[in-house]
Amino acid sequence: MRRVLFNRVLGPVSGFVARQLGEPHGVFGRIVMTRLLNRGNRRLIEAALAALGVGPGDDVLDVGFGGGVALDLALRAGARHAAGVDPSEAAVAAVARRLRRPLRRGQLGLLCARASELPFANRSLDKVLSTNTIYFWPDLAPPAAELARVLAPGGRLVLGFSDADKLRGFGPITRHGFTFHERGEVARALERAGLAQVELRALHGGSTEGDYLAVAERPAR
Ligand SMILES: C[S@@+](CC[C@H](N)C(=O)[O-])C[C@H]1O[C@@H](n2cnc3c(N)ncnc32)[C@H](O)[C@@H]1O
Repeated sequence: MRRVLFNRVLGPVSGFVARQLGEPHGVFGRIVMTRLLNRGNRRLIEAALAALGVGPGDDVLDVGFGGGVALDLALRAGARHAAGVDPSEAAVAAVARRLRRPLRRGQLGLLCARASELPFANRSLDKVLSTNTIYFWPDLAPPAAELARVLAPGGRLVLGFSDADKLRGFGPITRHGFTFHERGEVARALERAGLAQVELRALHGGSTEGDYLAVAERPAR
């Protein structure tokens, strides 16, 4: 019953919300959507960072950082440097303001870019994560190849996402421009990109029910 009511209320604005999720834009994107993302996705992001094992001295990259909470948490966990890319200028502006201190100190770098064209050198990063972004990657192969390319040997990647079944049950929003990837498909894309020890971990509890982490490593040699 609650879901029916929710869908009725959300129906007329579902396209707008979906476009904001896919790429926050304008004043709403910068001020409202980036905050909603930080709040709504925090548990999945925390789980992704725990699986990534961010620690002192790491160089971390967050692909599609949205509201930037993962970058903030990575720096608080002791990362030497955190970099974030997102195609949304609104997200870059919002996070540049919120995290202006580490940005000024040179501990944080923010760039407007897509997962399929990462502006980083080969084998340059220890830890890479991306949460709630794969729905906006119609073809997983180009981003997977880029993520594998920038990882240092022995480096780790974590993708956090809602499985296709969860997205299907989401109501009207995910019918606008989302791609539903089955979790097995995500794992296979990472293996095809040359990553090893690919593992899918189910998350449980509250908002993370139906969410998964795909954890993978770049072989040491
Ligand atoms: C639903 S939000 C998730 C944000 C954040 N990672 C989180 O979990 O809260 C999706 C983010 O991915 C970004 N995005 C969309 N397409 C992308 C792409 N091709 N490459 C990288 N990021 C992308 C969007 O601009 C947006 O900030």
